[in-house]
Amino acid sequence: MSADEGVEAVFSRAMKDSAFRDLLLTFPEQALTGFNLTTDEITRLKGLCFAQFESLAIATPEERRLFFLVDRLDIRNLMAFENLYEHEQMIADSVRVDTYYEAISRYIKPDDVVIDLGTGSGILAFFAARQKARRVYAIEHSNFIEIAEKIAIHNNINNITFVKSNSRNFTPPTKVDYILHEQLGYAIFNENMLKNILDLKRRVLKDTGKILPGKFELYIEPASLNNEYRVPFIWEKEVHGIDFSFLKTNKVVDKYKSPSYKSRFIQPSAIDTYLCNPEPILRFDMNEMMLDDELPRKLKCSKQESHTGQLDGLSIFFKVIFDDTLYFDTSPLHKYTCWDKCLMRLESKSYNEADIIHLDIDMADITNVNSWLVMLD
Ligand SMILES: C[S@@+](CC[C@H](N)C(=O)[O-])C[C@H]1O[C@@H](n2cnc3c(N)ncnc32)[C@H](O)[C@@H]1O
Repeated sequence: MSADEGVEAVFSRAMKDSAFRDLLLTFPEQALTGFNLTTDEITRLKGLCFAQFESLAIATPEERRLFFLVDRLDIRNLMAFENLYEHEQMIADSVRVDTYYEAISRYIKPDDVVIDLGTGSGILAFFAARQKARRVYAIEHSNFIEIAEKIAIHNNINNITFVKSNSRNFTPPTKVDYILHEQLGYAIFNENMLKNILDLKRRVLKDTGKILPGKFELYIEPASLNNEYRVPFIWEKEVHGIDFSFLKTNKVVDKYKSPSYKSRFIQPSAIDTYLCNPEPILRFDMNEMMLDDELPRKLKCSKQESHTGQLDGLSIFFKVIFDDTLYFDTSPLHKYTCWDKCLMRLESKSYNEADIIHLDIDMADITNVNSWLVMLD
């Protein structure tokens, strides 16, 4: 395939044809039919926001080639986890650590061979090693692995092999009984969990082996915020007689929207109430999957309001399920966990108790909340 048929053809057309460019940024699936693109290129193109598109449009073909070659999540992830404070927050989260500790004590048996994917400080690998696992392979792509190794030596733990590598480049000498991991981003998929875990599963997990944890529920809940935490879109505001409403349809503001414009992080106390009783919009078990595209990218649900109030956005959280008695969730209204609390911003709208909300979400790039298209009525 020549470059002209792939990504370069998309950019060259978008630069010449503004109607095509608008279609690409609003309905990428429609715009991209007929181009010769890989699945990864389609996902990345679908996830582009206006600002990213603009900077790629003025980049050289070589810069564009590199953008589409490198896994941006690996780079972002590696840099984020070379920060000691990140690990301190995760170790301090007793809901997270204690539930993992219980699960590892319950499931990992002497003689098991275990991979800890993304060992970080080594905490989960240490728990597995203390279960007298035959061998734990603690894999970490960042330099932080040197800290994990030092903690192991200090604690006389010697059944761990530390490997500084991306998990996708690692193969152990024998197949393993467990893939242990905490690859969970605030919106569950944004640390590349599906791609990383399922890659290892296909290559190195025994047929009888298990992913720990494998089962999850994703929640996307209509939320009403306490007034002081509301940040409406600029066109929704009128402040002391100054009207911004014309900006709703004026494209001049588009270039000032950052890649993360469509979502924001909130304090747990920002949420006044959920407008409906929380119900998962997606349930899945990686033990029953082989490929990440087995998960639907289009999610739909109808929810009945249990409260009257103003909808300010959709609150994203998830539940991690080890088994029927061992689980935790990251709901902002439940016990504190260290995951950021993410709100997908929506224009505010009032609902009454018993109204039905129809939610239609198209996850263009499952790892990037800001590429998710939400329809609500
Ligand atoms: C959320 S942290 C969890 C760290 C540790 N397991 C814990 O529970 O505290 C995820 C870790 O996985 C590492 N990581 C992410 N993707 C990886 C990959 N593909 N290969 C190796 N390490 C990875 C990150 O650098 C980070 O240290």
